[in-house]
Amino acid sequence: MEIAGARIWVTGASSGIGAALARELADRGAHLAVSARSVDALTEVAGGRMVVVPLDVTDRAATVAAGGAVREALGGLDVAVLNAGTWSRFHVEPWDSSLFAEHLQVNVMGAVHTLEAVLPQMLAAGRGRVVGTASVAGYRGLPGSEAYGAGKAALLNLLEALRGSVGPRGVVVQTVSPGFVRTPMTDRNRFPMPFLIEPEAAARTIADGIARDKAEIVFPLPMAVSMKLARLVPVRAWTALTAAMARRGLHGGPERRAG
Ligand SMILES: NC(=O)c1ccc[n+]([C@@H]2O[C@H](COP(=O)([O-])OP(=O)(O)OC[C@H]3O[C@@H](n4cnc5c(N)ncnc54)[C@H](OP(=O)(O)O)[C@@H]3O)[C@@H](O)[C@H]2O)c1
Repeated sequence: MEIAGARIWVTGASSGIGAALARELADRGAHLAVSARSVDALTEVAGGRMVVVPLDVTDRAATVAAGGAVREALGGLDVAVLNAGTWSRFHVEPWDSSLFAEHLQVNVMGAVHTLEAVLPQMLAAGRGRVVGTASVAGYRGLPGSEAYGAGKAALLNLLEALRGSVGPRGVVVQTVSPGFVRTPMTDRNRFPMPFLIEPEAAARTIADGIARDKAEIVFPLPMAVSMKLARLVPVRAWTALTAAMARRGLHGGPERRAG
């Protein structure tokens, strides 16, 4: 697709990948609307060249209303980027169902609400594009990612199903699955993050993937290859591997002590 001139809404655009992507798309000539909860941060990202629509995506009615506000401000909508997300380590003891629900509310229902805000108009017009930010963490179960990974796996499945449903009706669905990107979300992590990249690099890859109509945008390449291969590892071997990781405090296991 042609990014220059496209009307694009990015949620989760107040920091990290969403902020960098909004800037990258605006630099390429798109007309942007940006949403998240932090108005000040959004205003700074917008830099006077994007429409700011503050929003909590867990609020269904507010999200549907925000979709209308975005269409009105931009004069229509060509692309919705469902990027708002949250991550924190999940501990199995004590079990915290509220934290689990919070992840599903933001990472799954937030995307579902945003879809409700944009899909009816796209389907009626017979054109449009939805870009969802999932994660390679949704590819396999990882200790400490019980809540995050479950939500991202749901999102991967949802987007894949939707691609088949709405593709024939003119609506393109693209799935973004980043590896580790340096953002406020990952700054708190105390475990090794292989192949970590900067948000600007992530934004360039996502923008290129959107422009090239890629169904899946998975990056960086070494992480994409590793996690695609991880999908092929038999369950017994995967369990042994992840149990060893958890014992050593790697990827979301018990907190690693500095030094
Ligand atoms: N960084 C990584 O390594 C990585 C890897 C794979 C996937 N991802 C995914 O990439 C996306 C962006 O994450 P990031 O790394 O850029 O983290 P980030 O800097 O923490 O950005 C998260 C964004 O989501 C917004 N958000 C959170 N809860 C929200 C809510 N209830 N309503 C509206 N907006 C909300 C935040 O803004 P407010 O707090 O202002 O609302 C912020 O703009 C997420 O979906 C994440 O799961 C990240």
